[in-house]
Amino acid sequence: MKKNLIQLNNLSFNRGDKVILENVSLTVKQGSVVAIMGPSGVGKTTILKLITGQLRPDSGNVEVAGKCVSSMNHKNLYKLRRNIGVLLQNGALFTDLDVFENVAVPVREHSNLPEVLVRRLVLLKLQSVGLRGAVELMPSELSGGMARRVALARAAVLDPALMLYDEPLAGLDPIGASTIIRLIRDTNEAMEMTSVVITHSVEDMMQLADYAYIIANKKIVGHGTPDELRQNTDPQITQFLNGEIDGPVPFHYPADELTQDLLG
Ligand SMILES: Nc1ncnc2c1ncn2[C@@H]1O[C@H](COP(=O)(O)OP(=O)(O)OP(=O)(O)O)[C@@H](O)[C@H]1O
Ligand SMILES: [Mg+2]
Repeated sequence: MKKNLIQLNNLSFNRGDKVILENVSLTVKQGSVVAIMGPSGVGKTTILKLITGQLRPDSGNVEVAGKCVSSMNHKNLYKLRRNIGVLLQNGALFTDLDVFENVAVPVREHSNLPEVLVRRLVLLKLQSVGLRGAVELMPSELSGGMARRVALARAAVLDPALMLYDEPLAGLDPIGASTIIRLIRDTNEAMEMTSVVITHSVEDMMQLADYAYIIANKKIVGHGTPDELRQNTDPQITQFLNGEIDGPVPFHYPADELTQDLLG
């Protein structure tokens, strides 16, 4: 039986008076690719930031590799992050650095390797995403799909035990998306990594994940393998899987009556 690499235990998180997540518990088994899905604004990126310790829960906790992230001091968080690769939503490259230097950033930050080894690491990682030939290009010279692959190489350059991907396929054409899906799977397999993929795309989840959690209305409303989810008849899950605009999850962000608002 594989160990849990990540555990969220009864986690709640607020922004001011607004409850974002309420009593969320989930586990990510070592070696798996787990999707966290849900509509926009539901708190997916927030979960990612709670896993890296960038945000702290109001109650409950987050464990990564058996250690409680939520109470870690800065020194230990820094050590932890050395082992987590993050592909940010809109994962921007540094525009004034070329492709090589972009991928080298984590290496330079977390090690004192001599230049010849930095070069080897960076070139090997770029080779694995098919962009070794692009090392001298500037970000402005890359297509969106290429930029995403460079960002992926940068996130994975230190061979972290855990990769977190926030909307890795957003805005890519079908070929670009398939390329990234394959890279995520290959990276996970070759390096015996564990991956968490945040997405609002049902199709991407079905193709990519071993297991998925669906979040709606501050809570986890369902989880399972892609097949299990497909067969689930819970309206909150079918609404999401079928892309129905309104249902148990309301279309409107809470607001006063429109007429009252318009009449001042
Ligand atoms: N820095 C912030 N300050 C205040 N509220 C925030 C902040 N960041 C996010 N929020 C709020 O927290 C909630 C969850 O945001 P989050 O970014 O986690 O959503 P998401 O599920 O990743 O959405 P998307 O799919 O659009 O990326 C939203 O209601 C958002 O308005
Ligand atoms: Mg987000």
